[in-house]
Amino acid sequence: GELPTAAQRAHFSGLLTENAPIREGLVRFIQGFPRDSHPMALLSSTFNALGAYYPQLVENSLNIDDPQFDGAAAIAISKVRTIAAHSYRVGRGLKLNYPNPDLGYCENFLHLMFSEPYRDYVAKPEVASALNLFLLLHADHEQNCSTSTVRMVASSGANLFASISSGVNALWGPLHGGANMAVIDMLERIHADGDDGTRFIEEAKTGQGHRLMGFGHRVYKNFDPRAQIIKKSFHKALGSLGIKDDPLLNIAMKLEEVALSDDYFISRKLYPNVDFYSGLLMRAIGIPVNMFTVMFAIGRMPGWIAHWREVASNPKLKIHRPRQIYTGPVKREFVPTADRG
Ligand code: ACO
Repeated sequence: GELPTAAQRAHFSGLLTENAPIREGLVRFIQGFPRDSHPMALLSSTFNALGAYYPQLVENSLNIDDPQFDGAAAIAISKVRTIAAHSYRVGRGLKLNYPNPDLGYCENFLHLMFSEPYRDYVAKPEVASALNLFLLLHADHEQNCSTSTVRMVASSGANLFASISSGVNALWGPLHGGANMAVIDMLERIHADGDDGTRFIEEAKTGQGHRLMGFGHRVYKNFDPRAQIIKKSFHKALGSLGIKDDPLLNIAMKLEEVALSDDYFISRKLYPNVDFYSGLLMRAIGIPVNMFTVMFAIGRMPGWIAHWREVASNPKLKIHRPRQIYTGPVKREFVPTADRG
C-alpha cells in the first residue's frame, strides 16, 4: 500500500535476484513440453507446478505473514520472466541461459531470451527502458477478465501460484490478451495483399468488414493515455535498434497518420490504443508474436499478486459465489434411454 523505503526496496530487489533461477526439476518439466507448445500453456502449467516447490506457501496460504508474502511475490515476479524465456528457447531447441544477477529486470529478461553461448545479448538502454514501460503500463487495469479470475480463485483460499495460473489462462483468450497480436496479424495481411494501408482503411470505414486493430477503446474515448506514453518510448527504441525502413512499420505509420486525420476515426474518437504500439515494440525487439500474451502476463503479474493479497488478507473473506437466474425450460419429461431414438 505504500512506496518502499530504500531498505525495503533493496531487500525486495535482492529477493528478485535470488529467485530468478528456477529449479532443475522445473527446467525438466518445461523441457518435457512439445516443441510447438503454445507458450501460454507452458506458462500457466509451470506456474501451477511452481506451487509444488513451495509447500510452506501453499498449504496455509490464507495465513502467510508479510515476509512470506514478499517471498511469494518475488518468486512469482522473478520466475515468470525466466519461465517465459526458457519456453522461448526450448521451443527453438536452444541452450537455456542462466539469469545474470548483475542485470536489471528487463535487461536480464532480454539476456535470458537472446544471449547465445558465443555472444552475450547486451540490451540497448532505450530498448530495456521501453520494455520496462510496457510492463509498467500493463501492471493493473481494474476488474479485467484475468484479474477477476485471480480474485475469484483466491476467494476459495487457493494459493498464489494456483490463482495466478488461472489468471494466465483467462488472459490467453483472444478477447483479452490477444489484441497486440491482432495488430501484427493485420499488418502482415495488409502487406501480403500488396496494400500500403489505404485500401484497408477504406474497407474498415464501411463498417461492414474488418476493424482497424489497435484503434479504439471501450473506456478511453479521447485517447488512451498508455498509448501516448509508450509511443515516445517505442520510437526511441526503434531509433536505438536502427530500424527505419521496415515494411510493416511503414504500413503501421500510414494507418496511424490516416486514422488521426480522417473524419471517420476522429468523429468516432478512434485513436491508437496501447496495443497498437506495444505489438510493434515487441516485434521490433524480436519477441515472436505467439509470446505477446506472455509479455502481457509478465507485466500483469504485480497486479494479479496485489489483487490476490487483497482478497486473501481480508479478515471477512467470503468465497465469491455469483448467483444465477435459470431461464431454461422448467419441467422436462424423463424419457428412458431406449426410447430416445
Ligand atoms: N476500426 C474501425 N471502426 C471502428 C473501430 C475500429 N477499430 N472501433 C470502432 N469502430 C466503429 C464502429 O464500427 C462504430 O461505428 P458506427 O457508429 O458507424 O456503427 C463505432 O466506431 C463505435 O464502435 P463500438 O463497437 O460501439 O465501440 P466500442 O467502444 O464498443 O469498441 C473496441 C471498443 C472493442 C476496442 C473497438 O474499438 C475495437 O474493436 N477495436 C479494435 C480491437 C482492439 O484494438 N482492441 C484492443 C482494445 S485495448 C485493450 O484491450 C488493451
